[in-house]
Amino acid sequence: MTDASTHDAPAANAGPTGKIRVWDPLVRVFHWGLVAAFATAWLTADELQPVHEVAGYTVAGLVAFRLVWGLVGGRYARFAQFLKGPGETLAYLGDMARGRERRYLGHNPAGAAMVVALLVTLSGTAFTGWLMAEPERVAMLPSMPAIVAPAWADDDGDEREYASGQEVEGPLKEVHETLANLMLLLAALHVGGVVLASFRHHEHLARAMVTGDKRGPGPGDIA
Ligand code: HEM
Ligand code: HEM
Repeated sequence: MTDASTHDAPAANAGPTGKIRVWDPLVRVFHWGLVAAFATAWLTADELQPVHEVAGYTVAGLVAFRLVWGLVGGRYARFAQFLKGPGETLAYLGDMARGRERRYLGHNPAGAAMVVALLVTLSGTAFTGWLMAEPERVAMLPSMPAIVAPAWADDDGDEREYASGQEVEGPLKEVHETLANLMLLLAALHVGGVVLASFRHHEHLARAMVTGDKRGPGPGDIA
């Protein structure tokens, strides 16, 4: 019997404490590691470039891990468990507006859409940062949209511009900054959603992301 078979098992019944393990240890380490790396990248941007880059690559590594874990991880870590189509997501948002959305043990459909938005935006931010850090990286991407190329037209490709104390300028930097700002907005909405769902369902979701455990499913809940 492999681990994978237990990963696929339906949610176990709540134990004597009434709690059920929802977030496996790797999801929790991923989550809080991501929060720390993102905050570090944000706070060191344009201040402490080497730390900024290490933090940005850490974000990229964590996101890459999460993509794999979404395929092979525990039940509630799997994309197949929580990703829903637009119809179901809109229906859930409608239920939320009417104050009658159901409780999900894993991610609810709106939270799941937010997970995708966060992972995609983080990937884009890290990728544009990586591209910017060495001018020749843009040239390595023949399919790069033409709007980005002029940013490096005057570059001799010898030096990283910021390494010589100069500011990096150009559309790529604009894209990088815009994505980073979008991330801030998404993170704020994400935390707002977590707080709202915590009130609605009378449970401390942030604490569940620390302990891994949530209240077992009640009538009408979706496990
Ligand atoms: C301190 C502020 C934060 C708190 C309290 C928090 C809390 C949570 C909670 C409770 C969940 C599970 C949601 C659910 O029950 O469906 C979650 C998931 C998630 N959060 Fe946060 N979050 C915070 C900040 C962030 C930030 C800044 C990011 C991005 C950089 C982020 C990215 C994610 C991702 C990607 C998931 C999905 C986890 C997974 O399935 O692997 N969070 N967060
Ligand atoms: C995903 C996490 C990341 C976030 C949130 C982030 C955020 C930011 C922000 C907000 C700025 C604008 C700073 C300013 O001029 O005010 C910036 C600039 C920059 N970032 Fe990132 N970044 C990330 C990842 C990366 C990575 C992985 C690299 C490269 C390896 C990188 C390289 C740069 C460079 C070269 C600049 C321009 C610095 C300058 O103005 O001279 N970033 N980043």
